[in-house]
Amino acid sequence: MINCRADLNQLVPFKYDWAWQKYLDGCANHWMPQEVNMTADIALWKTPEGLTDDERRIVMRNLGFFSTADSLVANNLALAVYRLITNPECRQYILRQAFEEAIHTHAYQYCIESLGMDEGEIFNMYHEIPSVAKKAAWGLRYTRAISDPEFDTGTVETDKELLRNLIAYYCVLEGIFFYCGFTQILSMGRRNKMTGVAEQFQYILRDESMHLNFGIDVINQIKIENPHLWDAEMKEEASQMILQGTQLEIEYARDTMPRGVLGMNAAMMEDYLKFIANRRLSQIGLKEEYPGTTNPFPWMSEIMDLKKEKNFFETRVIEYQTGGALSWD
Ligand SMILES: [Fe+2]
Ligand SMILES: [Fe+2]
Repeated sequence: MINCRADLNQLVPFKYDWAWQKYLDGCANHWMPQEVNMTADIALWKTPEGLTDDERRIVMRNLGFFSTADSLVANNLALAVYRLITNPECRQYILRQAFEEAIHTHAYQYCIESLGMDEGEIFNMYHEIPSVAKKAAWGLRYTRAISDPEFDTGTVETDKELLRNLIAYYCVLEGIFFYCGFTQILSMGRRNKMTGVAEQFQYILRDESMHLNFGIDVINQIKIENPHLWDAEMKEEASQMILQGTQLEIEYARDTMPRGVLGMNAAMMEDYLKFIANRRLSQIGLKEEYPGTTNPFPWMSEIMDLKKEKNFFETRVIEYQTGGALSWD
């Protein structure tokens, strides 16, 4: 997985079948933002009484956060991680993921443009709104060292630096920082508001849950192949990173929901985020830090497995896949 000296231009024979399978699954879920009908959203957004101020705040803040967050993830993959993961089928998936991140950024841009929002205001939130800026800055901190062209793995310290980056991006950025926003926008869609934006987020969530699962598999594989990296110090650091990320996301929940809205509030979101954090910890073999937390939004888990679900926003059937394999026999 790392520090491999084999020829990386030869895809087969596969070493990690799961990575190739995720590449195929990612391709089968291909979608494009322009395929989603935004007409109802545009009408609702332009009606002064259409949404409350609190609901508008949620749409704006989330487009602000996500429109730059997916670029951070894409840059981290293309400029840092890709070079350092030395396995061809994993690289194939990383290329697919990088394109999906481009589609996500495109989707946010498409929403912002359709709704006629002030693009400067939205794209600058990651500088100007503290709860958004802190999450972006936290992610960027972990990409700095490994995106240096001179950086290379091969020592305990640099291998750990890569592992830290993977935990920061897959477990925290994609695994925690996206979840308050996804829940808020999808809750809006469930109430028949901003259904186009919500449908975009639904496709994005489906992609993101695959990114997360791929990242967890890569992290765990690196641990199996390099057990000396996963020492007590590294475990403690990984736990702390996940706890810090959870705290930043709780602050984001409070900032985006100063009052109860859409059947949820910041306290419920805090429970949900702790529930998610427990999952992230146990997925990489660490002890749960928030014992006894339950999921206040069980409908979120149902949305993540969309394959056979009819779109609950009822705009159209969402069993949308392309690139299904043809059978030649
Ligand atoms: Fe994304
Ligand atoms: Fe992603």
